[in-house]
Amino acid sequence: MSEADIQRIFETEPVPDHILEKMEELRKKGKELPDLSLLKRPSHIQGIIEAGRINTGVLDEVAARIHAGMTTQEIDDIVVEYTHSHNAICAPYHFEGYPKSVCTSVNEEVCHGIPSRHKRLHDGDIINVDCTTIYNGYYADASRMFMIGDVSPQRKRLVEETMKCLELGIQAAQPWATVGDIGYAISKYAGSRGYTVVRELGGHGVGIGFHEDPFLSHIGKRGTGMVLVPGMVITIEPMINIGKAGVVIDPYNEWTIYTKDGKDSAQWEHTILITETGNEILTH
Ligand code: MF3
Ligand code: CO
Ligand code: CO
Repeated sequence: MSEADIQRIFETEPVPDHILEKMEELRKKGKELPDLSLLKRPSHIQGIIEAGRINTGVLDEVAARIHAGMTTQEIDDIVVEYTHSHNAICAPYHFEGYPKSVCTSVNEEVCHGIPSRHKRLHDGDIINVDCTTIYNGYYADASRMFMIGDVSPQRKRLVEETMKCLELGIQAAQPWATVGDIGYAISKYAGSRGYTVVRELGGHGVGIGFHEDPFLSHIGKRGTGMVLVPGMVITIEPMINIGKAGVVIDPYNEWTIYTKDGKDSAQWEHTILITETGNEILTH
């Protein structure tokens, strides 16, 4: 689908009146509401669902083939091969100068780890593989953690509790709630487990572009920030640290984010559609 086709759908499939009315009511109460361009229409949603199916296929393929001893470049190769053979595109490739097709972030790397022929996976590593797929003009964005061989109990717990953070964030992503409710749910749980939440990066609107509004902090105050309106498609992608929350960026590649204290970090991500009755995960 061309960009123009996608834009035309905003006119041919208008937002239903009862949604517009509820938005107006909340706007009068001082709430922050999304621009109508952030409300995906049925044909958009169909397209994002299809992108999501391929994205899930990519991560399933990685899951089947990831192993100790391989390089992170080989993960990139798998992602490219699977994506292209399904007539889709890897969104990261050359995005704002990013050099590879997927992000592979190991242990103390928080996100945006760049695949390399020189980086090998070792027994006991944890790795996040973050994959964004474009199909027919539509985007889906998801990431998973993989545990390589025999992983320490501390790392295993971090990976599992971070998945729990994502699940709780998704549960909080209800229609007419706010983005602050999602961040609140995540940071409250992470704190209760003794972990910290990365602040500098967050979730985002997605579907027609790679990173759309709103920015979604994984730390939030209940009832604050943009209202979640049915038709919004967002990612939730908490980055959770064992140690302190601070991060640093790689001064050489200017992409990779590490924990400042060198301790481990984990992340899981899904693309979520807000519906009138709850939400749907479009990436599984
Ligand atoms: N997939 C990441 C996200 O979840 C963004 C990666 S940008 C890239 O938003 F250029 F590093 F790929
Ligand atoms: Co994302
Ligand atoms: Co992502």
